[in-house]
This record gives sequence, structure tokens and C-alpha cells, in this order.
Amino acid sequence: MAGLPQKGFEVSFDENNQEFSIVGSMRPERTEDLADCIKLFQTSARSVRGTLYVNVKRLVRLNNIAFRVLADLMVVACADHSGLRISVITSSVVGWSTRKFSSLRAVNDNIQVEQYDADFYPGQSFVEDSDIIALLRTQTKLTWRHERDLLPKHGLKAGMQVADICCGIGDFAVLLSKEFEPSRLVALDHSKPSLAYARTVASDFGIGGIEYIYGDAAEMLLEDDQFDFVTCRHSLQIFDRPERILKELFRICKPGGRVYVTNEKNSHCLGEPRGESIQWTYNEVARMLAHFNHDIEIGPKSRRLMLDTGFSEVRMESFMVTNMDGDPQDFADIITAWRDLFAGKMTQLRGDDEAFVSRFRQGFDDHIFAALHAKGYAGWPIWVASGTKPL
Ligand SMILES: C[S@@+](CC[C@H](N)C(=O)[O-])C[C@H]1O[C@@H](n2cnc3c(N)ncnc32)[C@H](O)[C@@H]1O
Repeated sequence: MAGLPQKGFEVSFDENNQEFSIVGSMRPERTEDLADCIKLFQTSARSVRGTLYVNVKRLVRLNNIAFRVLADLMVVACADHSGLRISVITSSVVGWSTRKFSSLRAVNDNIQVEQYDADFYPGQSFVEDSDIIALLRTQTKLTWRHERDLLPKHGLKAGMQVADICCGIGDFAVLLSKEFEPSRLVALDHSKPSLAYARTVASDFGIGGIEYIYGDAAEMLLEDDQFDFVTCRHSLQIFDRPERILKELFRICKPGGRVYVTNEKNSHCLGEPRGESIQWTYNEVARMLAHFNHDIEIGPKSRRLMLDTGFSEVRMESFMVTNMDGDPQDFADIITAWRDLFAGKMTQLRGDDEAFVSRFRQGFDDHIFAALHAKGYAGWPIWVASGTKPL
């Protein structure tokens, strides 16, 4: 990989992936200011076979001089090297880029533009759907009782600079803001409905100062070494490559700061009475999510994942949300929302037959029964892990 730092931006070429990348803000005053970038592009284009990928996912600004230079380079490269195709990889996070680069298709149809996060994680639609809002609200209400006490043990102190990545509907950020009064609080998510909801809740409750950001946790535009405490809850389990997200959490954390993650192991949900039926259903939940490339069993793997990312002083523990934590109906509401999601939309998409769906639903109904039973017990276990970014 060859890299060239320039004023405000960096260009590099990765030979293995045939990928030319530009990161940062490209605003030259004259074409000559881009001489090194032009040279690197031309040598890169000469060295590839088939498709050259031009990655502009993290190119946040581009003036007209720079756009014209890039456009010319791509058009000329396609004309000079027969058989060369160029695929420009943009991101929805940088709104203008897909529109702008798409105009090049009209000039040369060997130039394609692909918005990489239009449909990028299998199963993404389940978590970006506005239906998930009620579920996330109830989940956070129940987990907060435990996490409020756990967070200081994992290093959170008042007045810190904090980021909550994959913040969902922002309830956790609001609770953090009230309880720990951070000096800066950024909450990032890739769901526009969830962020819109988060902004409304914060304004309805008169909570100012939370910076809600639309972004991709795997390619954040946030700078390195910014935060004392970075949280990412119930989200590593929905990515097919959680290590990519952890790398980003590590990057934005200050040296000496800590990253805090929570994850589940769904097959360990439990309840009595009707334990067997409940157990069967949650084993099936894990299998179903694996089908959509989500690892809902990631909880106990968090320690290894954090150590592999480079964190030190990894601290890990688990807690169990139960029907005895407060109003049992709250617990039952979570299970009802899971039932409607897993035994509804997801079974339809996987093409499950009626007999399976009926047994699958029954396990959730039995879990609700256990939660609401006068002598029943129902639980949802969660693993918390945190680690320090070494100095
Ligand atoms: C299971 S929810 C958890 C939300 C929140 N942390 C909570 O505990 O309530 C997962 C969240 O990850 C978000 N998400 C999924 N892919 C993302 C991505 N690539 N970048 C940022 N957020 C993403 C979803 O929109 C969703 O809000």
C-alpha cells in the first residue's frame, strides 16, 4: 500500500484490492497542487487488471478544481487502457458524493458508482426499521438499572468526553447525559428514523448538547483519539465483522481512555415454568440470526475480541435482566417485541414453514407466561466488556 499525505487529505493505493483511496478534504487552489495525487492515480490505473476501485467513502469535501481533475483522470484512464473499468465507491454518509460522481457514467459507461452502504449489512433493514423503536426503548429502560451502577466501575466519570456508537434511538445517550454530565456527548447511528426520533426525544425533554450524527460505525468520519469513553451497546452482534467496528471504536478513543461494549448470548435466555420450550426457541433465535449473518451469541466472546483489537486491562462481567427487576410487564413487552420481529418478519424472509413458526412463537409466549406468572422467573443475560486503549 502506497500512501501520500497531502494538505487536508491523504491518497493511497492498495495493490491487493486494486483500490485507490482518498480520505479527508480535497480543496486545492490550482491543479498543480494535486501533482502527487495525479501521479499516483496514473501509476495505479496502469497497474490494475479489470476493475480499479476508487474509494471516496471518507472524502468529506471536494471543490470543483479537484472534481475536474479526478473526473479527467478516470475518463482518460478508461480511454487509454482498454478493458479498464472504474468503480467509484461512495457513502450515503457523505451526501453529495454519489450524485456528483454518478455524472461520470454519462461520459464513459465503464465508470460505475456504487454507494457501499445502500444495502451493506445482511439483515440491516431489521434494525434500521422504525418498528424497532418501541423495542429499544423498553430494553434500555430495563438494562439501565444495571448499567447505571456498572458504568463507573468500567471507567466512566462525570465530565468526560463520551461517544455512543450505534446509539439507536438515543435513550442511553439521554440517560448518560443526565446521570454523568459529560463535557461532550456524540451519539452516532446509521438509521435515519432512529436519529430523528432521538432528536425529538432530546428536545422534548429539554436535553441539549447531544451531537446526533448520521454515520457508519465501520467508517466513521470522527477523528482519532477524541473520546475518554466510547460505548457501543447491543450492536457488535449485528455486524458480520464486529472486529471492524471495534477497530473504529479503538481509533476514536483517546490513549488511556476506555471502550465499553454490551452484547448478548440469546440462547442463554431462560424462564420457568415451561423452561424447555423457552430454551428451544432461543436456540432457534441464535440459528435464525446466524442465517442473517448476525452473531447474537457474541457476549462471552467479547473479551477475546477486545484483546485481539489491542485493548488492555479488559474487564468483563455479565448481568441478568429479569422479570423481578421492576414491573414484570416491561419484561413481557420486550419478549412480545422479539416474538413479533423474530417469529414474524424474519421467519417470512427465511421461508420457514407453519409448524416451525408455531413452535417458535410458543417459546416466546411461554417466556411471557413465565415473566407474568406469580411464581415465575424469566431472564435475559447480557455481557459487559470494557478495555483501555494503551498509552
Ligand atoms: C440492536 S440496535 C442497538 C441500539 C442501541 N445501542 C441500544 O442499545 O438501544 C443496533 C443499532 O445499530 C445501528 N446500526 C446498524 N448498522 C450500523 C452502522 N453501520 N453504523 C452505525 N449504526 C449502525 C442500528 O441502526 C441500530 O440502531
